[in-house]
Amino acid sequence: MNAAALAAAALVVADDVHAHYGQSHILHGVSLAIARGESVGLLGRNGMGKTTLIRTMLGLHRASRGIVRVGGRDVTHERADRIARLGIGYVPEGRGIFPNLSVRENLLMAARPPRDHGREAWTLDRVLRTFPRLAERIDNGGAALSGGEQQMLAIGRALMLNPDIVVLDEATEGLAPLVVAEIWRIVASIRASGIASLIVDRNYRAVLAHTDRCVVLQKGRVVLEGGSRELRDDETLASHLGV
Ligand SMILES: Nc1ncnc2c1ncn2[C@@H]1O[C@H](COP(=O)(O)OP(=O)(O)O)[C@@H](O)[C@H]1O
Ligand SMILES: [Mg+2]
Repeated sequence: MNAAALAAAALVVADDVHAHYGQSHILHGVSLAIARGESVGLLGRNGMGKTTLIRTMLGLHRASRGIVRVGGRDVTHERADRIARLGIGYVPEGRGIFPNLSVRENLLMAARPPRDHGREAWTLDRVLRTFPRLAERIDNGGAALSGGEQQMLAIGRALMLNPDIVVLDEATEGLAPLVVAEIWRIVASIRASGIASLIVDRNYRAVLAHTDRCVVLQKGRVVLEGGSRELRDDETLASHLGV
């Protein structure tokens, strides 16, 4: 497929996107396309613009230049809730669950019927089977959950939307190693089920292991991209990530 055909077929596309906070110019013309079923890692040191790019693609921050497309549709000026309904399950930094609602309420309020893509639908039952810890805590309030349980609830909520893509921004941040391993196991099963993903995580080796392709941001620009397998042997990657 040539670049134009790929962009047209892609699920989520950022095309030459710029973003500012006030006078500070944060994203300097970032282009990124994620195809159906594709798993993409977004790498870069702290403050390089990863979260800003995600928020801009999801309509939570306005691009100051460039175009965002979801499912072939120009959503650059669309409201975030409408963009989410096009099939994007977003797990933000800091999780974004509702602390005053129970686990059940958090999950049910996110539920959307599947759009027919031939995948088994995500239901409350299926989420609880995937995250047995949440089943045990089903009537607990979000605030009563451990950090790991809150993260699982945030991922469960994203799946209840029956998304075409899940976006995970630092999903393992601050969690104990056993819980982190559990999160990566879930990421692998989401990938195997054919749902696309965009993954940001400090552990770049884990990102390389769980994605098809990675894009590296430095000061709001793409400085390196390629197949995750090839990037494992790329000597410049470590210097871009400062590791
Ligand atoms: N709400 C905000 N207001 C002003 N500057 C911000 C805001 N959020 C992020 N920034 C700045 O934008 C840059 C990119 O941040 P961010 O997208 O969060 O990076 P990353 O996710 O890669 O760590 C950083 O310099 C950060 O300080
Ligand atoms: Mg971030």
